[in-house]
Amino acid sequence: MRVGLFDSGVGGLSILRDIWRLMPGASTVYFADTANFPYGTKSEDEVRRCSLRAVDVLMKYHPSAMVVACNTASTIALEAIRKYITTVPIVGVVPALKPAVAMTITKNVAVLATERTLASRAYQELKKSFADGMTIIDQPCPGWVELVENGQIDDAEAEQAVRDVVEPLAAAGVDVYVLGCTHYPWLRPLIEKCVGQKASTLDSGEAVAKKLQRVLGYQTANDTERQEIYLTSGNADGFQKLASRLLGRDIVLTLYVKSRGEFG
Ligand code: DGL
Repeated sequence: MRVGLFDSGVGGLSILRDIWRLMPGASTVYFADTANFPYGTKSEDEVRRCSLRAVDVLMKYHPSAMVVACNTASTIALEAIRKYITTVPIVGVVPALKPAVAMTITKNVAVLATERTLASRAYQELKKSFADGMTIIDQPCPGWVELVENGQIDDAEAEQAVRDVVEPLAAAGVDVYVLGCTHYPWLRPLIEKCVGQKASTLDSGEAVAKKLQRVLGYQTANDTERQEIYLTSGNADGFQKLASRLLGRDIVLTLYVKSRGEFG
């Protein structure tokens, strides 16, 4: 059983971590499309094109299922991917708005995500279904994904960038923060420091891993030939170092995938 995942960079590794926790026997192939990072400020067409190319890369590894481990790609391109690939189940990432609405006491929820995700029809529809009687604040987070890709997840610059976004939200009474971009869980210690003890942060990693378990009928870790493959369209060395640091152990294999086109 092999699960294929892609993201514009190291964000989807936060989903990979949750998949390993629930499915420790599953083999994984992870594609970081770093040559086309960031997805979050691209046009919808560009995000769709990058996503379909990423799926092409993963299909070469014959996955049993694929995870679009990026909220931007999921909200924009999931439909197109499912039309393109009909032989493999595709699991997308949705901002955790539903559990956030169930959890908030102040009825003020902030959804932290990329501009592209917040503007997407898929996200706006999700909001319509769950936001009744709630104040939902759509909050882009300028610079956060770049900080994570730079490995700046715990320095003073990152803390300031997080404070700039979160403090006004806390002052407005937000008590639940949806991490609607897969890069943001890597900033969670800083985010939690800035939101205060009474607030919560929610991401979608566990929900994605549970969905994948169901889709694949995964039960026990009896896969004796478990394999982890890492691919990047960007700098292989840089990705290997950052991924190892974020995952807390040396990743064993990184292959370079030549990017077939950039967007200016
Ligand atoms: N990790 C991606 C997401 O979940 C976005 C990062 C980017 O802008 O490329 O939306």
